[in-house]
Amino acid sequence: MNADGIIHDLFVKWGEKYGPVYRMNSFHSVFIAVHCPEATKTILMSPKYLKDPLVYKRLFNLFGKRFMGNGLITATDHDVWYRQRRIMDPAFSSTYLRGLMGTFNEMSERLMDHLGEIAGTKTPVIMHDLVNCVTLDVICKVAFGVDLNFLKQNNSSFQHAVELCLKGMVFDIRYPFFALHPKNWKTVQQIKDAVELLRKTGEKWIQNRKTAIENGENVPNDILTQILKTAEEENVNSAKDQEQMLDNFVTFFIAGQETTANQLSFAIMELGRHPEIYKRAKAEVDEILGTKRDISYDDLGKFTYLSQVLKETLRLYPTAPGTSRWIHEDIVINGLKIPAGCSVTFSSYVSQRMETYFKDPMKFDPERFDVNAPKPYYTYYPFALGPRICLGQVFSQMEAKVVLAKLLQRYEFSLVPGQSFDIKDTGTLRPKSGVICHIKHCS
Ligand code: HEM
Repeated sequence: MNADGIIHDLFVKWGEKYGPVYRMNSFHSVFIAVHCPEATKTILMSPKYLKDPLVYKRLFNLFGKRFMGNGLITATDHDVWYRQRRIMDPAFSSTYLRGLMGTFNEMSERLMDHLGEIAGTKTPVIMHDLVNCVTLDVICKVAFGVDLNFLKQNNSSFQHAVELCLKGMVFDIRYPFFALHPKNWKTVQQIKDAVELLRKTGEKWIQNRKTAIENGENVPNDILTQILKTAEEENVNSAKDQEQMLDNFVTFFIAGQETTANQLSFAIMELGRHPEIYKRAKAEVDEILGTKRDISYDDLGKFTYLSQVLKETLRLYPTAPGTSRWIHEDIVINGLKIPAGCSVTFSSYVSQRMETYFKDPMKFDPERFDVNAPKPYYTYYPFALGPRICLGQVFSQMEAKVVLAKLLQRYEFSLVPGQSFDIKDTGTLRPKSGVICHIKHCS
């Protein structure tokens, strides 16, 4: 970390050096790192291994301020989590997702318009910042019915707050004494203010929605509606309701925005580095879309190669790189007896970058996901696996395809030479350079 590396690369080295099961001590806690497919399958696919409280309870608060609380990602108790997931599922059903194509198109068009103003000039653009605005616009509109148009805002405090919270998660989890050091006090205060801003915004949007419902207005059956329902079902006192709703409000911003933006920026970076792959992806898009403006749900199913590019992007760059489970009973993993009472960590970054599971792992090669290629066996899981698999998996890949397909259809992009292709770890993984591109109209 001091040498500006990322900790996940160290885990890859340790995975290679110590094998598929090894132990790490962090003060009094023991973490078992596991990358063998059988154990990954047994543990992640089973509802009996709960999320590890040592990790997820730490995200309840961020430096003393309630953050993700008992929301969908951080709830470790099975029943508390399951009640929320069951109610939230309809907002991610395929029927509902189909209906989101309009918003995905509309928000991506804003990016296209923005790029249209720059295309052909010598001004380079930081693609990461731009796609970040799109995914933020999408989640605000689709999940909460609010249209903020971040591409038109300079320095939005809300956008900055989401970023600070993600950074704060890394500090809080990885450096237990971070808040004790006077040199960090200013940062800690900024992170606490950021959490406060997110939760206060949530309060306002929830109140507006409640008022709309009381006034008999037609409200969409979106994520916010489901969040209100989870609180109703819990049937607890209103202060607790409110906190629970805000937990999920924060959760959707943390889970559903940067992860997709980072995937898009890594995809653009890799397309920029591989002209042949770029050409093939563009040819597919041109064949399917021609000059058509709006992308339909059915078009998405036809983007076979583009899907492969997106899958390969998440193999090399799993933007949310792992998960962990609590082992409550003795278990044998790969012949080793693991006693009850420890945490098992699974890193998609590690298994997806190991030669044992992916030949020539550092090569960006979408062919790995060709229909005829052998399927990875419990070694590829950028969205986690089993009951706690990402709720927004399909949503995010629909969104990513719409943005990327429109970009390929309308513009030629090339990477400004000399920039780094390194990864930056800010809670999610993102390209360090921000992916700086020159943009031209397609000839
Ligand atoms: C490329 C984009 C995305 C990636 C790589 C990703 C990855 C993940 C991963 C690895 C987890 C498990 C986290 C853990 O075990 O700690 C997760 C959970 C989750 N994600 Fe995503 N995610 C993405 C996009 C989204 C989007 C767009 C949404 C919502 C609109 C979303 C909502 C969630 C939720 C609610 C959970 C918790 C699920 C549960 O425990 O029931 N994600 N995601």
